Amino acid sequence: MIPKPFTLERFFAKHEFSARYLLSTSDCQGMLMADLVAGADEELRARWERLTLGYTESRGLPELRAEIAALYESASPDDVLVAAPEEAIFLAMNALLERGDHVVCTFPGYQSLYEVARSIGCEVSLWRPPEAEAWRFDPAELEALLRPNTKLVVWNFPHNPTGALPSQADYERMIAAAAAAGAWVFSDEMYRLLEPTDEARLPAAIDRYERAVSLSGMSKAFGLAGLRIGWVATHDQRLLERVEALKDYTTICSSAPSELLALMGLRSRGTILATNRERVRRNQDAAGAIFAHHASTLAWIPPQGGTVCFPRLASSAAQAGDATRTGGAADGGAEAFCAQVLRDTGVLLLPSTVYDYGDSHFRLGLGRDDFETGLKVLDDYLTAQAL
Ligand SMILES: Cc1ncc(COP(=O)(O)O)c(C=O)c1O
Repeated sequence: MIPKPFTLERFFAKHEFSARYLLSTSDCQGMLMADLVAGADEELRARWERLTLGYTESRGLPELRAEIAALYESASPDDVLVAAPEEAIFLAMNALLERGDHVVCTFPGYQSLYEVARSIGCEVSLWRPPEAEAWRFDPAELEALLRPNTKLVVWNFPHNPTGALPSQADYERMIAAAAAAGAWVFSDEMYRLLEPTDEARLPAAIDRYERAVSLSGMSKAFGLAGLRIGWVATHDQRLLERVEALKDYTTICSSAPSELLALMGLRSRGTILATNRERVRRNQDAAGAIFAHHASTLAWIPPQGGTVCFPRLASSAAQAGDATRTGGAADGGAEAFCAQVLRDTGVLLLPSTVYDYGDSHFRLGLGRDDFETGLKVLDDYLTAQAL
């Protein structure tokens, strides 16, 4: 069965390249290719000059897989398969799941993490974090959702859209729960490496659990979304073989220039990650000031990691995805509020309706260079509205 349309991606397809201020994107500022190449060592720059544009290895460039494996405690290059991140979700779900399987998935979330499973004919239970508990994904809730036929637990930490990041203790308990149920874990770690401190970073799932798949890529923490390079890592070779066989029906192999540029990005990760973390920190401070200023209109829970958070229209009575709400700055709810802000100011916010999560929240993205400029436009607009 073909999956339902991906609402968030359709929303961005419509607005991302026409809106003036992007305040809701989830990637970090796209790097200049010239800077990436200039920051590479001599060997990689020479390879770039004489790169052949033929087909590439289906599992990915060997040196790139080695560099990716070095991000984990327990992975070897053979445990890694390169694919675009969204493609990797599609392939891994199809390799792992069959009709009738039960799946538990964090929600709200990136739609393909549960929609692909549904399209395969799986029953999906949604694991929701209460906003009143600062969006904490409670491991006790996961334990309650697990069943004897649960094949897969899907989570995404740091979390899109809430910015939730479990404590180490909660995370260990989640893994123990999946292991006790004999379930696989698909761990979407796209926003990993974007924690405010090294101590806050969770171990990759494959470094804690044998039946795990870790997903990551160059789009978010590295600011290299246009490369379309990501990967899945797992210790299960049979699973990786199935993923590889399915990739023959999507892209067959990845783009040669993108693979080499991704290798440059990974080898320069010290400086790239430091720059991106610092930008997110700065933008988060700026957002905090605006939320304090407009506390009667907007309420937010600052993100614990990653690039995004999920503020609420404070006048709304609705919490935790309840679609009912009352009055306030945007009487028609978050969707009408975002549409009005876009129309009047050119600022793009992402309403929670694209997450199928009520009509009271919107996503804010903290990864871009011009965030503060757009935020100032939003600030002035809200101030004028309040007069
Ligand atoms: C949680 C999550 N997983 C996967 C992806 C897919 O990444 P990409 O757009 O680079 O394919 C995204 C992109 O927004 C995401 O937010």
